[in-house]
Amino acid sequence: MQLNKLINAEKKEFDRSYIKFLQSHLSKEVLSKAMIYGSINGGKRIRPFLVSTFAKISKIKKKSYRRISFAIESIHSYSLIHDDLPSMDNDDYRRGKLSTHKKFNEAVAILAGDALHDLAFEILSDIKTHPSSKKRILIINELAKTLGSQGLAGGQSLDLLYENNIVSTSKIIKMYKMKTSKLFSFCCVAPFIIANKNKKEIKFAYDFGQIFGLLFQITDDLLDEDQDFKSLGKTPGKDKKQGKSTLSSLKNREKIKIFCMNEIKKFENRNKKYLIKNHLLKRLIYYNLERFN
Ligand code: IPE
Ligand code: IPE
Ligand code: MG
Ligand code: MG
Ligand code: MG
Repeated sequence: MQLNKLINAEKKEFDRSYIKFLQSHLSKEVLSKAMIYGSINGGKRIRPFLVSTFAKISKIKKKSYRRISFAIESIHSYSLIHDDLPSMDNDDYRRGKLSTHKKFNEAVAILAGDALHDLAFEILSDIKTHPSSKKRILIINELAKTLGSQGLAGGQSLDLLYENNIVSTSKIIKMYKMKTSKLFSFCCVAPFIIANKNKKEIKFAYDFGQIFGLLFQITDDLLDEDQDFKSLGKTPGKDKKQGKSTLSSLKNREKIKIFCMNEIKKFENRNKKYLIKNHLLKRLIYYNLERFN
């Protein structure tokens, strides 16, 4: 089956259970409404797809990995709500609709992001996610490291610091790996932790998330340059207008493609043993290049 079809089928199933979960968990108050608004309005759900891919390799039950995906999408929604705030990227649109601070107001959007972040930890620490408290603590610790000053928040801070500055390729890559790749690594690593995989296998899952996230952010930046509002669902051409330091502010498309192919080859050569057993993983790496070709 085509990869896009597989991703969409998984998305439909995920969306059904995520909406149900959020509605049963949240109230009718404005904060809950904003949390739901920022969560269920049409994301690609590529992170849950990665979770289910790594969970299937590990033969983990859907009941467990679905809750890990709920937590990850809660985090992802928090990061997008805050990313759109006037003090960050100042985007009025997200997923084709008004961004949360435009639909509600800034204070509600900040709090909705905070509460979605907290919800992720509530989900993961609940016994329903996994009966072993030791395993729950391991994945919670991994998520906390993913999000903090060395992860998503740290990367977002560098992204803002680098605006209208001359920044080297290696610094930009490091920033991408923090703001974007770390959460993708968590998607791959969490099912492997639950499945008691060994250190080498966990390292492979981590590195897979790193390369996937890197290619994903490079693609997101390229699409920002040449897609319209309808296909992006967010304001096009924003990165350039805001003076964002992106790979495409330093290199042309051909050079970027060569850079990506080199990164992929290095990864493939180091991980032949794992990739040979799972063709879907290999296809997923190229999924990003297909998005911008
Ligand atoms: C957007 O993520 C933010 C980046 C890390 C580039 P997605 O492109 O996964 O956003 P949705 O969930 O599909 O809207
Ligand atoms: C956002 O990167 C990465 C996050 C951690 C949210 P962008 O700022 O490029 O994401 P978009 O383009 O607004 O979705
Ligand atoms: Mg941003
Ligand atoms: Mg943004
Ligand atoms: Mg972007």
